[in-house]
Amino acid sequence: MAEPGRILLIIGGGVAAYKCLDLIRRWRERGGTVTPVMTRAAEEFVTPLSVSALAGEAVHRDLFDLTAEAEMGHIQLSRASDVIVVAPATADLMGKMAHGLANDLASTLLMATDAPVLIAPAMNVRMWEHPATQRNLATLQADGVTVVGPGTGAMACGEYGPGRMAEPLEILEAAEAVIAARRGPRPLSGKRILMTSGPTHEPIDPVRYIANRSSGAQGTALAEALAALGADVHFVTGPATHRRPKGVTVVEVESARDMLAAVEAGLETPADAAVFAAAVADWRTASAAGSKMKKDGSGQPPPLTLAENPDILRTISRRDAGRPPLVVGFAAETDDVIAHATAKRLRKGCDWIVANDVSPASGVMGGTENAVTIITADGSESWERAPKDAVARRLAARIAAALTEDSPAPRAAAGGAS
Ligand code: CTP
Repeated sequence: MAEPGRILLIIGGGVAAYKCLDLIRRWRERGGTVTPVMTRAAEEFVTPLSVSALAGEAVHRDLFDLTAEAEMGHIQLSRASDVIVVAPATADLMGKMAHGLANDLASTLLMATDAPVLIAPAMNVRMWEHPATQRNLATLQADGVTVVGPGTGAMACGEYGPGRMAEPLEILEAAEAVIAARRGPRPLSGKRILMTSGPTHEPIDPVRYIANRSSGAQGTALAEALAALGADVHFVTGPATHRRPKGVTVVEVESARDMLAAVEAGLETPADAAVFAAAVADWRTASAAGSKMKKDGSGQPPPLTLAENPDILRTISRRDAGRPPLVVGFAAETDDVIAHATAKRLRKGCDWIVANDVSPASGVMGGTENAVTIITADGSESWERAPKDAVARRLAARIAAALTEDSPAPRAAAGGAS
């Protein structure tokens, strides 16, 4: 296995700074090295002594440290790593980075580096949602900074919401992805992958619609993970509440029928794989009213007649011409997950099914984690519960392995049950 790499870890001043101790320990266990840098504020939360003891290296703290400068100048320090990880990335550090300020060692290193930068934001929910932070975040992402988290949950300040720093394992996985992307080769470069994601909205009248709880988070994470491996991703999404993926072509649609049309148009250029992560509405109203439906005073609700939507996954899987060599479907199940998903794979004619438990108790739909089982012609494999980003990276790696094997991915048995 390749050496995991050298992280320059900038620890910012936040309660989550203590998690950096675990992060350092885990990276070193994998054989990697960590060069720690602490801001003044960080020293209020963890001691430089604990950090250097775990890192096995002295902590860099001062911009004007002549001894350190003689040994390794800050320019050199900023470039000697495979990735710079900022954790916790406070509102202040993000603001400095976005505006190019360099008035201490951490911000100077971030300005002087040519290494990729990964930030793990952590702050109070109001600070995270503040337009200034969101503006800085957009600037940093546009500058090519990778962002991991923040997660949602109870915060040290007593509030609840987004702002919790990602867990050390998630940060390290993101760092590994950044390092892998930098080192190359990018196994999916030259490969085109079409995806669907999000819910669909089926109009009842101009103001009402039928929908479902899919947020589009898993689809977005998978699209970004595939793009990070070099794929050219064509992403057809319904009106998802989650943000759109970066670095991919996004096509926005509303209904299942629009989605099918967009997928067919997207496949006019051949694709190496198609991944159907959308939670497509199975039914639409047989005819949507052209104007807003009104109560007629009788106390009787209007009848809502439903019609079945086209099955996009099945339509594409069973195509003779232009079927991508690897077709992956998702299965949202609430009970008997593996049995239902195995039957679904055959019924739909796709190569793999990624099955997930969407029962209310699982918290998967609209949540940040997922526990999936991959079902192929060879059997099933259950993956432990993990953040949706981590599931996405693992699935992207699996797709890359299938597309880069000498022989093309096995097609589903022809003539499976319908
Ligand atoms: N799918 C699709 N078009 C549809 C319905 C589903 O492309 N009209 C795709 C989904 O994107 C997913 C897979 O089919 O990849 C399975 O979706 P799921 O909702 O689990 O299955 P259904 O077909 O709705 O089956 P059932 O309602 O019986 O569970």
